[in-house]
Amino acid sequence: MEETYAVEMLNITKRFPGIIANDNITLQLKRGEIHALLGENGAGKSTLMSVLFGLYRPEEGTIRMNGKEVSIKNPNDANALGIGMVHQHFKLVECFTVLDNIIMGVEPCKHGFLQKAEARKKVVALSEKYGLMVDPDAYVRDITVGMQQRTEILKMLYRDNEILIFDEPTAVLTPQEIGELMEIMRNLAAEGKSILFISHKLNEIMAVANRCSVLRKGKYIGTVNIADTSREELSHMMVGRDVQFEVTKKPVEPGKVILQVENMTVASKLHQNKAVKNVSFQVRAGEIVCIAGIDGNGQTELVYGLTGLEPLESGRILLEEQDITRTSIRRRSAMGISHIPEDRQKHGLVLDFSLEDNLVLQRYFEPQFTGKGGFLKRRNIREYANHLIEQYDVRSGQGPVTAARSMSGGNQQKAIVAREIDKDPELLVAVQPTRGLDVGAIEYIHRQIVAERDAGKAVLLVSLELDEVMSVPDRILVMCEGEIVGEFDPKKTNVQELGLYMAGAKRGAEQA
Ligand SMILES: Nc1ncnc2c1ncn2[C@@H]1O[C@H](COP(=O)(O)OP(=O)(O)O)[C@@H](O)[C@H]1O
Ligand SMILES: [Mg+2]
Repeated sequence: MEETYAVEMLNITKRFPGIIANDNITLQLKRGEIHALLGENGAGKSTLMSVLFGLYRPEEGTIRMNGKEVSIKNPNDANALGIGMVHQHFKLVECFTVLDNIIMGVEPCKHGFLQKAEARKKVVALSEKYGLMVDPDAYVRDITVGMQQRTEILKMLYRDNEILIFDEPTAVLTPQEIGELMEIMRNLAAEGKSILFISHKLNEIMAVANRCSVLRKGKYIGTVNIADTSREELSHMMVGRDVQFEVTKKPVEPGKVILQVENMTVASKLHQNKAVKNVSFQVRAGEIVCIAGIDGNGQTELVYGLTGLEPLESGRILLEEQDITRTSIRRRSAMGISHIPEDRQKHGLVLDFSLEDNLVLQRYFEPQFTGKGGFLKRRNIREYANHLIEQYDVRSGQGPVTAARSMSGGNQQKAIVAREIDKDPELLVAVQPTRGLDVGAIEYIHRQIVAERDAGKAVLLVSLELDEVMSVPDRILVMCEGEIVGEFDPKKTNVQELGLYMAGAKRGAEQA
């Protein structure tokens, strides 16, 4: 007998200017399953989910639910059919409470009066049933990203959605929150909800999904049962070739000190106390030093201080023995610091500029890009941009003239990495350089970072990903509550030990 699926997307084609984002894709979702959707950046995952959620109308294809064709022209149609979506970037009102966000648009009313007590009861019951603890009266602006995500999930459940779409939900979470989200998804599926789960992370998919469909460059590659597959098979399907998970590198040969940080203290914008407290360390030529820690322990402010985005309260920064403590951002860049920033949309790109203009952002004034009269040499910029786009495989609809805003997050990231590494810096400060990237791109970026180190550059890597912390650097410094609490050789430590230091349960004596 033929199985009736909860949702079937059949032969979906969706085009954008210059690109077929979904090329004849078929996806079948069983009731009560967790179905992963895997693919590189720009593979077309978000587009396909946006078609299901009624944000895009496909040029071709049909959608069936429980065997019957349905028409989904907008998110209201989707909602009426029981389809809900948690977007990659949340869509909450920051100055509303959790409860108000959840009931927004479907406020229960009787005789024209809002029945908030009833709404609250339902929300509390739902959060208990699925293990989604969150304070309904807290303001969204005051709660963590993990809690905001729970609010989004409760929004779907409050609307009695049966089909739940999660677009890269783990990209913004800490390892602990990821574990909790997986548990929540399992609970939801056990209650009969059908889940579409987008992720790049093979470990997560292997841990939580029942089946996985793979897209590559807008095309459907196949669907496999998780029980019958492996990380290797999935990554091969995703990238179209074998991927090496291990980072291979030569033994470290540190040279002279490139970066010297002495007693750095940086104030916190968010809190009363100091974000970075009296921190000292060095990075030498030819080594990769990693600052590891749980998000929010001063790593951001440490990098702001280093790159000039925030002044130091006290302490000194020396770059190749020159004091740059009060040097401007542009001057630091010219002196040889490259920065792959944590917030790529805020500090990495000018979203309204084209890709090519973004690629010369800190060097458009160099003679190769600006002529004597002060005019930009557009042809040289175009040539240079094309070279980087090809070398770093930056995918976009219209190449160098694509608006940065319209590019997928992963490709925005690749563009920044290309620009910062190609500047040939003495010191590369890379903050979460592979966040949100797929295995193929991660492998590539890790190789570039190791190549910089092998070329005698100093690399300061700031990472929240334990896999990255263990595999890429030559030295690990753990940061906790604004201080460096331990220094480790990645070959002589393990994730458990690092975790204890990150959580503040242990402190080391062997500080740098
Ligand atoms: N609104 C849009 N306008 C133009 N191009 C888009 C738009 N949304 C996505 N694209 C392009 O479609 C392709 C697929 O994007 P997307 O579905 O976001 O990929 P994924 O979610 O798998 O990373 C990408 O090349 C992206 O640049
Ligand atoms: Mg996406």
